[in-house]
Amino acid sequence: MKHLLSPLDFSLEEVSHMLKLAQDIMKNQEKYSHVCDGKKLATLFYEPSTRTRLSFEAAMLNLGGKTLGFQSADSSSASKGESVADTIRVVSCYADICAMRHPKEGAPMVASQYSRIPVINAGDGGHNHPTQTFTDLFTILELKGRLDNMTIGLCGDLKFGRTVHSLVNAMKRYPNVKFIFVSPDELKIPQYLREELTNEGYEFEEVRQLEDVIGNLDILYMTRVQKERFFNEDEYIRLKNSFILDERKLSLAKPDCYVLHPLPRVNEISVEVDNDPRAAYFKQVQNGVYVRMALILILLGLDKQFDI
Ligand code: NCD
Repeated sequence: MKHLLSPLDFSLEEVSHMLKLAQDIMKNQEKYSHVCDGKKLATLFYEPSTRTRLSFEAAMLNLGGKTLGFQSADSSSASKGESVADTIRVVSCYADICAMRHPKEGAPMVASQYSRIPVINAGDGGHNHPTQTFTDLFTILELKGRLDNMTIGLCGDLKFGRTVHSLVNAMKRYPNVKFIFVSPDELKIPQYLREELTNEGYEFEEVRQLEDVIGNLDILYMTRVQKERFFNEDEYIRLKNSFILDERKLSLAKPDCYVLHPLPRVNEISVEVDNDPRAAYFKQVQNGVYVRMALILILLGLDKQFDI
């Protein structure tokens, strides 16, 4: 049985198939509206979410299936001390597939070891967020027509931001992709990721000022400072406004440098940027539904019947 815990769980061919399927779903939604009749998706969310949970639910509903689940650890038996291993054994009796978000790195992986149904990692601590990453890839492909030969700037909380770690892992597999990491010293990419990129020979740069590099970027991926992962509130307050993208800064970017953000935005993108044709973050939200529809079909083995 296939699970989705990291973007690297899919080979490049599998990613390409999934993106094609998501494109077909986007163009022909009606064709897919009964594929999951009688199937159930469980959403096990031990951490807050708006987009990821609702887009999973929308995806399953669009496919004709149904959803069940919980939205916080407090409203599940986790609050009574039940382990993830036991919870997933139970949920395996109720649903055909599940999406799990958890504050602990590796929790969905543990779940997958005890599960009788496919487990999708919907974000584990500061680690990975593969379904957001595949949404990001889909959006970049839609906007630029390619995933190779580009310079991507990742800006904000690169230390705790799981969407950043996941996206770097997924994008480094495409030829001639260069990363420019923009953050204050305190929020630089984790040492393990820096070592991996260095040892594997990938091209990257780490800088402090967005203005110095924004003109070189093909994609700018903005992120929120991850308040919930700080040990010290004062440190969060000191760093939370480190970068604010406004029209003045964006005027230094190329005319086809698109701005992505996994959302939620706090104040790292000024609302005036929303009207700029390069602002792509709300398109990303819509794309997330198509991508999650494709992933549900693939993990349930229901994609084979479609000739795409
Ligand atoms: C992200 C997450 O949960 O990691 N949100 C999302 O799923 N779109 C980003 C964030 O919370 O900052």
